[in-house]
Amino acid sequence: MSLKNKIISIENLEKKFSNGNKILKNINLDIYESEFLIIAGENGSGKTVLMKHLNGLFKPTSGRIFFKDLEITGNEKFFRQKIGLVFQYSDAQIVGQTVIDDIKFGPENLGLPDDEIEKRVKSALLHTGLKNLASNTALTLSGGEKKRLGIAGVLAMDPDVIIFDEPFAGLDLHGVKTVLSTIINLNKKGHTIILITHDLEKCMAHADRIVIMKKGEITKTGTPDSILDHLESNNIKKPFGTKRKAETMTWMK
Ligand SMILES: Nc1ncnc2c1ncn2[C@@H]1O[C@H](COP(=O)(O)OP(=O)(O)O)[C@@H](O)[C@H]1O
Ligand SMILES: [Mg+2]
Repeated sequence: MSLKNKIISIENLEKKFSNGNKILKNINLDIYESEFLIIAGENGSGKTVLMKHLNGLFKPTSGRIFFKDLEITGNEKFFRQKIGLVFQYSDAQIVGQTVIDDIKFGPENLGLPDDEIEKRVKSALLHTGLKNLASNTALTLSGGEKKRLGIAGVLAMDPDVIIFDEPFAGLDLHGVKTVLSTIINLNKKGHTIILITHDLEKCMAHADRIVIMKKGEITKTGTPDSILDHLESNNIKKPFGTKRKAETMTWMK
């Protein structure tokens, strides 16, 4: 993948909450079309706070965020369609009784025509492997299936960029494999992927670039190979046995 066309630009972003804590400092980051970007950092480093700025859930204290040439401030609703966020806690994202109701919710809220909603729901079911569970009660799904439902709901909004906040947290091996392969396939389909994690083991081999955060700042950006020696000093666990990135994922095969 060539890092050619910028899709998101973050310029001098700072976030100070009303309690006076400055959680993000001097964040400058360009994200490119169709890239697979991982944001790694220890707990509390500001990853989730940063991502919530990208779809308008938090407002910058200072600094600017752009999607292509459009600034987020004042365009939050549009950003939320273009940049989908799959939350860490899948239950919090479920709004529909059944799988299909849940996926429909977003496009229905956009006021789209029925045939367009149906098309989007079908496509979302297909790309998340949930077709056979379409009429199941959403809350009875397994952890991995709920995560894929969260992805399906975001997909139905037809976003260019999809952010995954700790997508593997709490999943068993099967859940991890199905969610990871869903994410990889969405990237192959052309979606820009931003994957937030404190645990690189499962996903590092697939990233084009990795951004490391510590205490609200970006401390390093580079290819998976080039950041390996910077993990421990940033309190991130080095993937077991990693010498080259291709070795990381052998357990997946
Ligand atoms: N709404 C908020 N108000 C004040 N502090 C917050 C708020 N949300 C998050 N924080 C603080 O921001 C810091 C970074 O949190 P977060 O981005 O969730 O970390 P992580 O990198 O683990 O995702 C934490 O110290 C957290 O307590
Ligand atoms: Mg977090």
